Amino acid sequence: MTVAMEGVIDIELPKFEIPEHAQQSLSAAAADTLADEIKTLLVKNNAVLIAHYYTDPKIQALADDTGGHVSDSLDMARFGHEHSADTLVVAGVRFMGETAKILNPEKRVLMPDLQANCSLDLGCPAEQFSDFCDSHADRTVVVYANTSAAVKARADWMVTSGSALEVVRHLHARGEKILWAPDRYLGDYIRAETGADMLLWNSACIVHEEFKATELAELRARHPQAKVLVHPESPPSVIAQADVVASTSGLIAAVRDLDATKFIVATDTGIFYKMRAAAPGKLLIEAPTSGRGATCKSCAHCPWMAMNRLEPLAQTLRTGGNEITLPRSVCERARIPIDRLLNFAAERGAVIYGNNDA
Ligand code: 13P
Ligand code: SF4
Repeated sequence: MTVAMEGVIDIELPKFEIPEHAQQSLSAAAADTLADEIKTLLVKNNAVLIAHYYTDPKIQALADDTGGHVSDSLDMARFGHEHSADTLVVAGVRFMGETAKILNPEKRVLMPDLQANCSLDLGCPAEQFSDFCDSHADRTVVVYANTSAAVKARADWMVTSGSALEVVRHLHARGEKILWAPDRYLGDYIRAETGADMLLWNSACIVHEEFKATELAELRARHPQAKVLVHPESPPSVIAQADVVASTSGLIAAVRDLDATKFIVATDTGIFYKMRAAAPGKLLIEAPTSGRGATCKSCAHCPWMAMNRLEPLAQTLRTGGNEITLPRSVCERARIPIDRLLNFAAERGAVIYGNNDA
């Protein structure tokens, strides 16, 4: 669905395939055997496993049990950068592996599946984006982390959902006009919150775009005590109903910290694993994804995140396959906007970093 939104560019974007949801079709015993093998292989390879909150709970548990890390995209980058392991195994989507490689060019970065991508990344091809930047050379280029290394190499700043508001506020206060890519919903939310002059690329997350405002309002009416938690990649009509709009880390912190026992959650359901651990006993309700008569494509679970399964994770550690490689020149240029964010975030500490195990 394309929503008419002020300041969004009118440009033909590429079509892409959305993969079928991969299944963890293993028996419990086979999964345990594989998990044990992965633990051994991580030690043998001097490797650390860094997983996103949307990955399968078995992968998240493995990261926790082996001294790795489960977090949002900003904190995954920070952790990989600060860790001493020779090999970073990134369970997430491709831009997360690329960010790890850009920050750690001397390290080996492996992923369970290199085809695990993201609709935002696929919806922002580097050449088209570069032309767009050229036609608006007076604007500061701010790109979301969910982009390719080549797109980051064209940017002034990289931001994540946990840091975008702070960064744009900072740039707006300096009087800078912004060219924002690729998520139009996140961009629109940041623009509304900050009042910054922002021109928006026209891409969206296929998972968050499916949350439905009318059905959410009906659900809220049935659960008037529930707090509504929304990731800012969601449409404005869904964000407008939120009690909390935040990154994945921020949403988990809200479940833990708010004085409520019921929550309606509008983000990928992979996050429920850590929400339950952070706040046992609280009731979590999935926000609706299908309108009447409609069929959801993602059904609140990212099909690319689902590609992170135990078998390919073990296989990449056995063979060293699925390594992220990037041209040195791209890495060097893409590092500039990422370093800017990490330095900015380090100065502001807890305001931005949101890992919930810390
Ligand atoms: P977070 O940075 O909030 O984890 O978001 C990453 C993402 O891809 C959400 O869809
Ligand atoms: Fe991309 Fe959306 Fe999947 Fe996040 S949930 S990785 S934004 S497609």
